[in-house]
Amino acid sequence: MSHIIKRPRTWKILAIETSCDETSVAILEMSGVQPAKCNIRILHHEIATQIPIHQRYGGVVPEVAARTHVPELIALLERAKIFGAKHRYNAIAVTRGPGLATALRVGVEAGRTLAATTGVPIIGVNHLEGHLASAWLVPENRNVWKFPMLVLLVSGGHTELVLMKDYCSYRILGRTRDDAAGEAFDKTAKLMGIGYPGGPAIAKLAANGDPTAFNFPRPMLHDPSLDLSFSGLKTAVRQTWEKLPSARRADLDIRADLAASIEQAIVDLLVKKTIRAAQKVKPAAIAIVGGVSANYLLQKEMTNAVDDYLDGRYLLHPAKGFHTDNAAMIAAAASWRLSINKTDNWKTLDAKPEWDL
Ligand code: KG4
Ligand code: ZN
Repeated sequence: MSHIIKRPRTWKILAIETSCDETSVAILEMSGVQPAKCNIRILHHEIATQIPIHQRYGGVVPEVAARTHVPELIALLERAKIFGAKHRYNAIAVTRGPGLATALRVGVEAGRTLAATTGVPIIGVNHLEGHLASAWLVPENRNVWKFPMLVLLVSGGHTELVLMKDYCSYRILGRTRDDAAGEAFDKTAKLMGIGYPGGPAIAKLAANGDPTAFNFPRPMLHDPSLDLSFSGLKTAVRQTWEKLPSARRADLDIRADLAASIEQAIVDLLVKKTIRAAQKVKPAAIAIVGGVSANYLLQKEMTNAVDDYLDGRYLLHPAKGFHTDNAAMIAAAASWRLSINKTDNWKTLDAKPEWDL
C-alpha cells in the first residue's frame, strides 16, 4: 500500500532489524530524491548479536531469539537517542520478513508503536532486499551501480540468483531447491561439533586443510537450470563423518581437510552457477551479498571467475561487517522504497515470515 507523504529535503531513516539472531538499529541520512543521485550517511549503527546465547544450543532457538530481542531492542533504541527526540528521524524502516515469526514481531511492533506515536511514515522492508542494499551502502559501489545487476544472495536461510532490473524490481533466476548455502555450512559444522555459526567456524578450520582431500558432491552443477541444491552435500558429509572411527574424528588434520573440502564444494557450486547465470543474462554488474558472502574463499574465487569469464564486469561486495544481518541495510532498502513513495500503514503492518523478494 502507498500513502501520499510529504517529502522532506533529507530523510533520516530509523531502521530496526530483528529477523533472526541479531538485534540492530541504525539511522541513515539520505539527501536527494533518487537512489542514483542521493548522498547517504550512516548517522548511527549498532548490532547486538545473540550468537553467544544460541551457541550453547548449536543453532538459533526462535523463542529464545524473540525473547532476547525485546530488552536488546529497547537498549539499542535508547542508545540511538530517539526517545523524545523528534529531530532524530523522519521515517521508520522495519524488517517485515522473511525470518522467524516471533523475532520479526518484536521489531515490527516496536516500529508500529513509534510510527503511531510520532506520525512519521513507516516502511516494512523485505530482509532480502535489505541484503541487496547492503552492497549499495558502499560509496564506491554506488558509482558503478548498473542495471541489470546479477546478485548472488547467500545467507543462512536463502540462496538465490536475482536479476535486479531496477531499484525495487527483481526477477529470481534460480534458487536452492533445499538447504541454503549458509545452512549447509551450519549443519555440517554442527555435525562435526565445531560450533555456531558454521560458516566462520568451517572457514577457520579449512585454512589448514586440503580442499581436495574429500570429493564431496556438487549437486545440480551440470543441471542446465540456475537452481542449486545443498542437501546432497550435507548427506555425503554425514556419511563420511559416521564412517570415521572416533580417534580420526578428533584428528585436527582430518577435521581441517573435511572443513576445506566442504567449503570448496559450496564455493564451487556458488561460483559456477553465478558465472552461468551471468553468461546467460549478460548483466552490467554483479554483486554477492548475505552472510555467506563474508567467506574469503568465495570472494577470492568469484573475483577470479569474474575476471576470467566476464571481462570488465564489476563485482560488488558489502563492506566488512555488513555481510551479516544489520539495520543499516534495512534503512538503505527503505530509502529505495521512499524514492518511489512506497510506505505502509502502521495500523495494518504485520510480520511476513515467508516473504519472497
Ligand atoms: O545473512 P545472515 O546474517 O542471516 C540470514 O539472513 O540468514 O547469514 C548468516 C549465515 C550463517 O549461515 C553463517 O554460517 C553464514 O552466514 N556465514 C558464513 C560466514 N560468515 C557468516 N558462511 C561462510 N563463511 C563466512 N565467513
Ligand atoms: Zn540475513
